[in-house]
Amino acid sequence: MHRVVFSFLAVLLAASAFAVELSDAQRAAVEARIKPVGESCMEGDSTCGAPVVAASTGPRSGEEVYNTACMACHSTGAAGAPKVGDATAWAARIAKGTDALYASGVNGVPGTGMMAKGGCVACSDEEIHAAVDFMVANSQ
Ligand code: HEC
Repeated sequence: MHRVVFSFLAVLLAASAFAVELSDAQRAAVEARIKPVGESCMEGDSTCGAPVVAASTGPRSGEEVYNTACMACHSTGAAGAPKVGDATAWAARIAKGTDALYASGVNGVPGTGMMAKGGCVACSDEEIHAAVDFMVANSQ
């Protein structure tokens, strides 16, 4: 009887010893699986692992939105757009206040080349606000 109990314990011990001995690769795999979701990662950041970039769903920065959706007009002045960096062109617009500029960014300026969200239908209002902030910060 004692022998049976003893060998049962031995098996348990062996099993638990096995369970805690993970290789580095296994440990890394477990850590990757239990990582918090939504950990943000800037596009082009080489320190980020590819799977983390793919999982990132947070809003894009103002600079990113500007570079993809606004720069075409606002860096060249195309269609009469106030150029980013041209403090004179922006002074009167900035004087209207942030809310007015946010509204123009989201709704567009009727009768001009400034379409709603600058044409970026996939952009959230929050992302457009960030892009406006970026443009204003670089035009004063
Ligand atoms: C197709 C060209 C075009 C694109 C793309 C574009 N804009 Fe514009 N934007 C304009 C023009 C033209 C004006 C000037 C409108 C006017 O006469 O007041 C303007 C004006 C603005 C103003 C000032 C509005 C005001 O009330 O004075 C803001 C803010 C603005 N754009 C934000 C953005 C943002 C943010 C994006 C990108 C998401 C963007 N624009 C993309 C053409 C563009």
